[in-house]
Amino acid sequence: MTELLRAAIFHTPENAFHSAGALRAYTDGALVIKGGEDADDRKDNGTILACGDYAQLRVEFPEAAVRDLTGSFILPGFVDTHIHFPQVRIIGGLGFTLLDWLEKLTLPEEARFADPSYAATIAQEFVRSLASHGTTTALVFGAHFVESTAAMFASASATGLRIISGLVLADRMLRDDLHTTPDRAWRDSNDLMARVANLPRAGYAVIPRFALSASEPLLEVCRALLKENPSAYFTSHINESPQEIEIVAELFPWAKDYLDVYEKFDLVGRRSVLAHNIHAKDSEIDRMAKRGATVAHCPCSNAALGSGIFPMRRHLNHNARFALGTDVGGGTGFGMLKEALQSHLLQRLAVDPLTITPAQMLYLATRAGAEALEMDSSVGDFTPGKQADYVVIQPRQQSSLANILKNSPDPERTLGAIFTAASAEDIREVRVGGDLVHENR
Ligand code: GUN
Ligand code: ZN
Repeated sequence: MTELLRAAIFHTPENAFHSAGALRAYTDGALVIKGGEDADDRKDNGTILACGDYAQLRVEFPEAAVRDLTGSFILPGFVDTHIHFPQVRIIGGLGFTLLDWLEKLTLPEEARFADPSYAATIAQEFVRSLASHGTTTALVFGAHFVESTAAMFASASATGLRIISGLVLADRMLRDDLHTTPDRAWRDSNDLMARVANLPRAGYAVIPRFALSASEPLLEVCRALLKENPSAYFTSHINESPQEIEIVAELFPWAKDYLDVYEKFDLVGRRSVLAHNIHAKDSEIDRMAKRGATVAHCPCSNAALGSGIFPMRRHLNHNARFALGTDVGGGTGFGMLKEALQSHLLQRLAVDPLTITPAQMLYLATRAGAEALEMDSSVGDFTPGKQADYVVIQPRQQSSLANILKNSPDPERTLGAIFTAASAEDIREVRVGGDLVHENR
């Protein structure tokens, strides 16, 4: 049966950096979701029929079953554009810089994923954590091992999340047990891609870990994989730490900058998401913008690893796309609310500071990610016809969030308070395409 959810509702059906009126806020709102048993039209179940003021939509949909969630807040499901599945157990390893952190903490943990049974355990933890934090779509770095990456796809698919991921590829400078060869990378990637094609809500990404750990023949394989599979995505890291950038320049002496390495192999296009881009030259930002690629901006990781502050204003000046990523486990956890807050806080401190608004924070955590993945025709906000991917936030009684909200003067302040003070414990329910993926009562 068609459902009408009554609650305060926020979404950004437009780019909040381009339009001052991008935030739609309904204090006593309704989200109407198609349901029903009628065999001919069941295929549209779980899509949004309407979003707006409760009083008006109650009249328009008199037959809908009303679920009264007054006192709660409904936001679109979060889209995390950069997160590492095999790093769940190293969250909180503080005090390192990138290359030391990789060598001492991260790569030893990722080597454990040679064991598919360990991977299956972590896959469950990973997928549950995504869902419990309100993330409904994610672009995920898999493992360096086919079966372990397949285990994560299987868990995500069983839970109902939207996941784009793939085998992570490297053939130098990590450690021997994480290295592949170009030939094996080609075979393994094709094998996994064929298996993923049969999974619902799943997509494939070609993922060389970063330029530092990829030989030119391996990047050639990435090029060929993308050429043969035009719907596949490309994701990697770029311009994260000065030390990393220096080594990449030595390894690719012909490249004019870091982006040029990926460009030479035709890896930078509309379906490319490159994480970080902190120490980028203007020309790199400009070329990314022209190619329609997106930066996954991961401010918790950037602070935790001491990598630097993302030059957001320069990305805006060049009209370059960016969206949010948690970068677990370099980042500090699965929470996209926290990630958006950290973005706000660090931009205040940037050399070229920017005060991003709660509407822009919401856009970054939802629609911007959907745009990055070319999924904005189906998810990212509550426009009718889209999938009902949403998060219900119900502040715990007597919590600091509940107290703050008693005096909120307007929707922007309410949203700012949610980003600042809500945590996973306040997330009551998460749905993807109308299907329950997490519940906390
Ligand atoms: N660069 C190469 N690998 C990684 C990783 O796992 N995390 C981050 N943040 N940067 C990387
Ligand atoms: Zn990363």
